[in-house]
Amino acid sequence: MKTHVDMEKVLFSKEEISEKVAEVAKQISADYEGKNPLLICVLKGASVFFVDLIREISIDVEMEFMSVSSYGNSTQSSGRVKIEKDVGIDLTGRNVIIVEDIVDTGNTLFNLRKLLSARGASDVKICCLLDKPSRRTADIKPDYVCFEIPDEFVIGYGLDYAEKYRNLDCVGVIKSSAVMGSSSK
Ligand code: IMP
Repeated sequence: MKTHVDMEKVLFSKEEISEKVAEVAKQISADYEGKNPLLICVLKGASVFFVDLIREISIDVEMEFMSVSSYGNSTQSSGRVKIEKDVGIDLTGRNVIIVEDIVDTGNTLFNLRKLLSARGASDVKICCLLDKPSRRTADIKPDYVCFEIPDEFVIGYGLDYAEKYRNLDCVGVIKSSAVMGSSSK
């Protein structure tokens, strides 16, 4: 397992993640049989999850990538969403699945889902690796969730802090000493 000195504890190992990702992919394959869904990867955090997920899906799917920002380098959500890279295709009548790394306050996905629905998608579902329901302020409930986690800042398997740690193959809690502005450095 590729862990890091800045990781306080591992929450999910590489093996646990791949088992769960396969389960969710199986569910999506059953639910969308014959529908050719469009999976939209929200960059950059969901990229690692996305490429593992699509390879476990057994039906025809299409993929697109979007980049939205709401966080900067902070461990607190700013609540704003800015589209930095948009999808390149018409969404009219499409069954869209937004693939996200983590649903925290839910603000990012609330705004993104609204935007994609307004473009004529026939339905927009949400698939996330991690869900932090205790932090939710927006009216969002992900349709496919790999793991629920408590209110802790996590890194690894695509998730970053200040652009680091995305390459770790497990998910874990960051040490407070690794967080900028921490007094216990
Ligand atoms: P939301 O709009 O508050 O739901 O924020 C969602 C985005 O915040 C995610 O896509 C992540 O990029 C980032 N985020 C929220 N919690 C964490 C965390 O624990 N680790 C890393 N990124 C996080």
